[in-house]
Amino acid sequence: MKVAIIGGSGYTGGELLRILAGYPGVDIEAVTSRQYAGKKVSAAHPNLEGILDIRFEEPELSGIAERADFVFTATPHGFAMEAAGTFLDAGLKMVDLSGDFRFDDPATYERYYGIPHTAPELNEKAVFGLPELYRDTIRKADLVANIGCYPTTAILGLVPALKAGIIEPGHIVVDSKSGISGAGARPTPMVHFCMADESALPYKITSHRHMPEIEQELKKVNPRARISFVPHIVPVIRGMTTTIHTFLREDVTGEDVRAIYQDFYRGEPFVRIWDAGEVPRMSASRGSNYIDIGGFGVDSERERLVMVVCQDNLVKGASGQAVQNMNIMCGFEESAGLKTIGVHP
Ligand SMILES: NC(=O)c1ccc[n+]([C@@H]2O[C@H](COP(=O)([O-])OP(=O)(O)OC[C@H]3O[C@@H](n4cnc5c(N)ncnc54)[C@H](OP(=O)(O)O)[C@@H]3O)[C@@H](O)[C@H]2O)c1
Repeated sequence: MKVAIIGGSGYTGGELLRILAGYPGVDIEAVTSRQYAGKKVSAAHPNLEGILDIRFEEPELSGIAERADFVFTATPHGFAMEAAGTFLDAGLKMVDLSGDFRFDDPATYERYYGIPHTAPELNEKAVFGLPELYRDTIRKADLVANIGCYPTTAILGLVPALKAGIIEPGHIVVDSKSGISGAGARPTPMVHFCMADESALPYKITSHRHMPEIEQELKKVNPRARISFVPHIVPVIRGMTTTIHTFLREDVTGEDVRAIYQDFYRGEPFVRIWDAGEVPRMSASRGSNYIDIGGFGVDSERERLVMVVCQDNLVKGASGQAVQNMNIMCGFEESAGLKTIGVHP
């Protein structure tokens, strides 16, 4: 299969290249970057020197659509909704890593992303790209909206408890810490070493774009679901830890909760459920497509349940999940190309 990556010089584009470089049967037909056009991919991704002998090209969409069978858009929001028609009309399947097609209602996108949605008819066809919840619809989709990094942790961390009815749906706090690569490769003051190192930076503490994405999915389980979502940047390059604070409606133990999660995710290739009381750590999934869910701390006196979810923001939170979606869309083995174990420490 011939694959194109639009936005291949960025961090998620680099991860797509790293994963697909060792994927038998997949050829990288085109990889774009305006800044690096004409240069070897190793100019942006030195880990690929001697591994992938291809060069970046300009994002000339119709020419690329003629040459490829499958496309990833690893571009900032606003790009994919303009480009998707060209690719889908030419018969390609597409996974977009941005927020352009994640919302059921384009008005929510417009409110949180601050620009008009220019492809509402394609938005209707797009499928929410979270395999653990939507595998059957992803299988039939031509356009998949790979979901956000923070939402992957929050949604997978909350849906089993919400479905089981053991937590108060309206009183949920999602407190997330992300590595700096979550902000992309473009340098900004926020990710300057002196600003980010030796610090923790809470940002958009009541208005982050991922909050409505998380609530959209939780409300499908319980319409009363509401969250307070606070993201932080912490001084690590990659990785994400989300601590989820909830109030219990039922008298359960940590073991009971763990059993609910184990049942829910039985057979899932990339969800690891930790023992009750054992807290997963960010670094254990680094470089891999695993998501670790654990903690399951019950404080009966205060009727609280606290869970901890960790992943690599660039893999299960982005490009690994994108390849998982590709595998499902194309009828390949779901974990093909994704069997790497994380590096720790
Ligand atoms: N970083 C994460 O952890 C993460 C996780 C989940 C989802 N995402 C989402 O994935 C997308 C990519 O994120 P990233 O972190 O990889 O960003 P990034 O490092 O800033 O890379 C963006 C890429 O898009 C290209 N690009 C930018 N504007 C373009 C345009 N108008 N037309 C064509 N190409 C353009 C850039 O190359 P040129 O400018 O050289 O063309 C670059 O290759 C974003 O929508 C982001 O929200 C990121």
